[in-house]
Amino acid sequence: MRIAHTLEELRAHLSGHQHPAFVPTMGNLHAGHLALVRQAKPLGDVTVASIFVNRLQFLPHEDFDSYPRTWERDCTLLKDAGCDVLFAPKEKVLYPEPQTFKIQPNPALADLLEGQFRPGFFVGVATVVMKLFGCVFSESKGQRTALFGQKDYQQLMVIRRLVQQFALPIDIVAGPTQRDADGLALSSRNGYLSPSERAEAVQLSKTLQSMAAALRAGAGTGATDIPALEAQAMDSLRARGWAPDYLVARRRSDLLPPTASDEPLVVLGAARLGSTRLIDNLEV
Ligand code: PAF
Repeated sequence: MRIAHTLEELRAHLSGHQHPAFVPTMGNLHAGHLALVRQAKPLGDVTVASIFVNRLQFLPHEDFDSYPRTWERDCTLLKDAGCDVLFAPKEKVLYPEPQTFKIQPNPALADLLEGQFRPGFFVGVATVVMKLFGCVFSESKGQRTALFGQKDYQQLMVIRRLVQQFALPIDIVAGPTQRDADGLALSSRNGYLSPSERAEAVQLSKTLQSMAAALRAGAGTGATDIPALEAQAMDSLRARGWAPDYLVARRRSDLLPPTASDEPLVVLGAARLGSTRLIDNLEV
């Protein structure tokens, strides 16, 4: 695996390759990232990952400074997963000057759910992803692919719209959410959980599962009272000591509340357990 810290190094490592398959990350890798790298392998002629903790997508009170930087371990894991080129720019390489031009995703999508509780998050994500695409794909001429985990459902939607609206010649491929044996979605932030919180953490996916089961049971009949289901889910997590931000059933197409009984749905949740904020989702 070749490592690039600068754009010049990246271009040198990618020269001769036309079809990069790219997995952007913020490091502190887990099996979900590595599954994306393995999924990327057959999709291009060079598998590229990036590690960059993007200050732009953190609010001032969030965990940018304490976000785990696990460089040696990440390099070993990426190499073992078959990554060919790792792009790990320093902040000054990606942001040599204050980033005054930013990508503003459609607020109708980006101000909902995660965007409501983390204002500006998707501006930061879209801006860095656009920049990373520019770095990784600038020299390639053929098919370009980028892979994102489905655990970040809304992020994946924002990036798909970004690519579509800017007519970027990049295929966006989703990787299924990877879970621990008990069902907890893998996340870099799971490492913040104490042993007792880790045991409790699975309740987020269990709650989403019961919401999905209730929706499936009433599917097509319009019989499910969705606001009541959401309120009940919030109450059940609160009763266990969680501080939920949202637990909702939304249309897969635009993440708005459903208006007809036959619309494909996804249930999404975000909740804080102690000081750790977890998110998860499940297509119904
Ligand atoms: O999902 C992430 O790890 C980040 O949001 C991403 C896409 C790498 C952008 O910083």
